[in-house]
Amino acid sequence: MSGTHRQPEVNIGLVGHVDHGKTTLVQALSGEWTDQHSEEMKRGISIRLGYADATFRKCPECDDTEAFTVEETCPEHDVETDVLRTVSFVDAPGHETLMATMLSGAAIMDGAVLVVSATEDVPQAQTEEHLMALDIIGIENIVIAQNKVDLVDAERARDNYEQIQEFVEGTVAEGAPVVPISAQQDVNTDVLIETVEREIPTPERDPDADPLLHCARSFDINRPGTTWEDLLGGVVGGSLVRGRFEPEDEIEIKPGREVEEGGQTEYRPIETSIRSLQAGGTSVDEVSPGGLLGVGTGLDPALTKGDALAGQLAGAPGSLPPVWDSFTMSVDLLDRVVGDDMTEVEPINTGEPLMLTVGTATTVGAVTSARDGECEVNLKRPVCSETGAKIAINRRVGARWRLIGVGTLDG
Ligand code: GTP
Repeated sequence: MSGTHRQPEVNIGLVGHVDHGKTTLVQALSGEWTDQHSEEMKRGISIRLGYADATFRKCPECDDTEAFTVEETCPEHDVETDVLRTVSFVDAPGHETLMATMLSGAAIMDGAVLVVSATEDVPQAQTEEHLMALDIIGIENIVIAQNKVDLVDAERARDNYEQIQEFVEGTVAEGAPVVPISAQQDVNTDVLIETVEREIPTPERDPDADPLLHCARSFDINRPGTTWEDLLGGVVGGSLVRGRFEPEDEIEIKPGREVEEGGQTEYRPIETSIRSLQAGGTSVDEVSPGGLLGVGTGLDPALTKGDALAGQLAGAPGSLPPVWDSFTMSVDLLDRVVGDDMTEVEPINTGEPLMLTVGTATTVGAVTSARDGECEVNLKRPVCSETGAKIAINRRVGARWRLIGVGTLDG
């Protein structure tokens, strides 16, 4: 089987400050990935999901670290390289400072590469915010890519390296390897691949359990003006955390679609069937748990358009966890507001709105009762989640939502 068409088996987040080089790094690692995807994938999942697949390989004839590559043929020895594994990179938007997007992406990350530019002091604002988010969500397998080393001299690179080490002390990234690279000049990419292979292993997942897909995105892949006969059903993109999917499988999506009746809004589960599956840049007959994939459904694309189903869960009918309109969560607050070191985190108050990220879902909840270490919230939009799920808690501070702590869904 060609390595370019393998299903990705692990999701790796790419996080870091704006312009530090995340996109450039994905390009360096995934090569001509855009060409491997069908037109629908290109316009749909790849772009909207902000993700790319990369197949890591090893040259059988190169020595040590130099053997790690993304090239199918080793330029040095002119031999075909061996496939190690295919990974999905999930790109976190740096510039929008949209922590909600970052946090919901974090729910499906098995590990992360934190990109830090050697040309700026450490930490820049989103470097710090993204690292805290990884900490809160509990992503422990982290590799730090010290990028743009081609733009600085050796002394500056060393100072910056030390700043990085100092900055991660006491965080989840303490002790994480720091790999100096130039994503643009393709310098040290082999070291980075070797490090990712070692530090971010593929987690064990159960392919025989009831399937469960975290929907990270959903969209309409039809071009404007497509006629009725050519219209393709709605697509959801996300990560299958357990079980298998095959075309023709019946699936249920919860909380489902918003229905307004007599001035009341409620959510009703959606049932549909799988029409097509895309993984690793191609159509496949079966998907097992792992990296990101696209699921073509029989749904009216109006239902999936514009991420309407992002944050929902899909699985075998009747097997999904409960839908919550309100819940109680235990709360563990940080000492200081993330991204605003000056502000101490005050206890949560009854009546205050919180932005909560549960799995890939983001919703606003009004606190109906707050006690020490626990609070009850009424959600604006319901979420489908198992009890025990981790919740990132954000509070409005000034004009922005800021991460203030982590919760656990108690019921
Ligand atoms: P956002 O997605 O906007 O958060 O930015 P990003 O982190 O994806 O950064 P991007 O990859 O767009 O890189 C920003 C700029 O830095 C671009 O002009 C890149 O060409 C440049 N750049 C990235 N990596 C390197 C590098 O290793 N060396 C040099 N010289 N330039 C780089």
